[in-house]
Amino acid sequence: MKKITVIGAGNVGATAVQRMAELEMGDLVMLDIVEGIPQGKALDLMQSAPLMEYDSHIRGTNDYNDITGSDVVVITAGVPRKPGMDRKDLLKINSNIIKDVCTNITEYAPDAVVIVVTNPLDPMTYLASRVLDMPDNRVFGMGGMLDSTRFATFVAMELGCSVKDISAMVIGSHDNLMLPLPQYTTVSGIPITELMDEDTIQELVDRTINGGAEIVKYFKNGSAFYAPAASITHMVESVIRDSKRIMPATAYLKGEYGYDGVYAGVPAKIGREGVEDIIDLKLSDKQKELLTKSVVNIQSSIELLELE
Ligand code: APR
Repeated sequence: MKKITVIGAGNVGATAVQRMAELEMGDLVMLDIVEGIPQGKALDLMQSAPLMEYDSHIRGTNDYNDITGSDVVVITAGVPRKPGMDRKDLLKINSNIIKDVCTNITEYAPDAVVIVVTNPLDPMTYLASRVLDMPDNRVFGMGGMLDSTRFATFVAMELGCSVKDISAMVIGSHDNLMLPLPQYTTVSGIPITELMDEDTIQELVDRTINGGAEIVKYFKNGSAFYAPAASITHMVESVIRDSKRIMPATAYLKGEYGYDGVYAGVPAKIGREGVEDIIDLKLSDKQKELLTKSVVNIQSSIELLELE
């Protein structure tokens, strides 16, 4: 059994643990700073196992000793976005949490692949990689995966077809400067640019960009967690099974797309070593311009981080 740890037993973390347990992806550890919550949720999930028929063991804890030997650590600890709150408002609060969590991962699970989920995602992933003493490919973020599954959902809704045939691609930052790529979003291999007019595509792109905010508006207090948990599960599965699936990931760029020393969403091959390859897609001039805006925005957030 692989060992998968999720730090942060909130909505996103606990739902991800549930999904991964039901798929028997490994033994699971759920750690939170609040006493009792991870223990209670873990026990509740263990009591679901006889009916849902999974043998994964789930431990809830406040003690970092329990994450020792983890193959994968997912970081969902943080404060979620509230209505009217930009992801950048979260930068300060969540960067202190990331520093604390990553210092502990370095001490207790230095050999893990680390997936960051805490928002604002791109600078938090960068910060995590600076605090964690491990190769850049072993630290990446889950952002574009969620944006892409949202885009895929909206494409299927528009076409009235099965979601199973859609493969969507969204790159750039995990915020309102993200870049959904219609020419690389396909239905059974057919780019959506062949199936819809430009205005319709633009509506779906806009809805994707506002996908997180649309849900925050419904909840009023809190943000999405089912699709984020599904996105985490998809990424962790590719690592622990070494599947080498290609998906959007917030990866460390070393010259790809013309950027260096920054984390941003790009298509990546995900396997046992984390980000094993990055695919440098051909973009239109307009898309290159938008990607520059997106990456410059990430760089300016990174500059706001207090790094020592
Ligand atoms: N160490 C461990 N856990 C922590 C810490 C910490 N230093 N600080 C906060 N937490 C825990 C909280 O106690 C809480 O249980 O993180 C959990 C966050 O859960 P929720 O508030 O339910 O937030 P959630 O909706 O799960 O979102 C978590 O993921 O998608 C992102 O924007 C979202 O950054 C947010 C994160």
